[in-house]
Amino acid sequence: MKRKEFLAQVGVGAALVLDPICFGSLSGCKKSSTSPANTDFTIDVSTGELSKNGGFLIKDGVLVARTNSGAFLAVTAACTHEGTNINYVASSNNFVCPNHNAKFSSTGVVTQGPANSNLTQYKTTLTGNSLRVFS
Ligand code: FES
Repeated sequence: MKRKEFLAQVGVGAALVLDPICFGSLSGCKKSSTSPANTDFTIDVSTGELSKNGGFLIKDGVLVARTNSGAFLAVTAACTHEGTNINYVASSNNFVCPNHNAKFSSTGVVTQGPANSNLTQYKTTLTGNSLRVFS
């Protein structure tokens, strides 16, 4: 293997480790702040979990989901009870915490404790295959 080939492969591997979500969309993924309060990033939804209805992923502390009808939702990923990352449940179109089973509506409103405060909801806009998630 030539030096140039080796460096190219190491570079690809490092990119996958550092940012697997953005790797498939180098032109469509913008880095964002790590603070959900200042969230503003884009995701290429042509591949990965958000390419199919019912899929979801967590990026920069935000859970982004695609409903069974193809709409996009974005809320804070950390449960407001003790901070465990929540899951999106497409069949009931809500968010459930796997730790103590708190439930939140599709807009982040608590529907079952022990959590007693709502998730922060983020805005989304879709342009082609580029989904912008922002405060
Ligand atoms: S951490 Fe989510 S319900 Fe307790």
